Amino acid sequence: LPCSVFSSSEALSRHVAEIVATIIRERQAQKATAVLGLPTGSTPMGVYRELVRMHQEEGLDLSNVITFNLDEYYGLKPTQLQSYHRQMHEVFFQHVNIASENIHIPDGMIPLDEVDAYCDDYEAKIREAGGIDLMLLGIGSNGHIGFNEPFSIHNSRTRLCTLDPITRRGAASDFFHEENVPHQAITMGLGTILEARKILLLALGQGKSSVIRELLEGPVTNRVPATCLQDHRDTSVFIDSAAGIKLT
Ligand code: F6R
Repeated sequence: LPCSVFSSSEALSRHVAEIVATIIRERQAQKATAVLGLPTGSTPMGVYRELVRMHQEEGLDLSNVITFNLDEYYGLKPTQLQSYHRQMHEVFFQHVNIASENIHIPDGMIPLDEVDAYCDDYEAKIREAGGIDLMLLGIGSNGHIGFNEPFSIHNSRTRLCTLDPITRRGAASDFFHEENVPHQAITMGLGTILEARKILLLALGQGKSSVIRELLEGPVTNRVPATCLQDHRDTSVFIDSAAGIKLT
């Protein structure tokens, strides 16, 4: 996989935001929509802040953008502090001109007996939008993308999944204690992600250096779900120097 290493997270965020903006403008020139797949977590926040700045200071128009978020914790209300709904709105959506009907984030409050139909409908909405033009991804230290934890299958679709203990431990500080971290989430599947036409995976910090080495230098393995991206035809990896220290 092609990999670019940046000296700082700011430089990485500016570069990635420029790629996103270029696709939005290109699609606009064609009078077409730009369909984005979006992650939450700490890694992409600088990209969102840079896109907000471009919107506010440089007039970047996002009126043709349709978004699909990757995942949401199951059982969290959209207003709850740790919900990905709330994070996305606070950092990005409330500052830009994406029409609210064009924003899609999995609903963590769907009753259990409606989850399957809800997830099928999420997939149908992606298809109706024409598929995802550009997917941004973070990566968990255990190799998850979205919440596709180790041993997720490569053709998995949007579904209710169980969080890995490593993932729950990693989220403990956000929830003030590990026992408050939900056990489940709704996530796009690996199959859903692999259908995106272009994928950019971002990683920051030394804590990601081992998994970045496995992603870039290791074999494709279900143990590290992100390695499925090695079989995708337009995936690029963007990391800071700390995340790259274990590369040979
Ligand atoms: C979140 C998501 C996750 C994160 C990953 C890294 O929507 O899809 O896969 O990208 O857990 O999280 P951070 O960026 O907080 O290190």
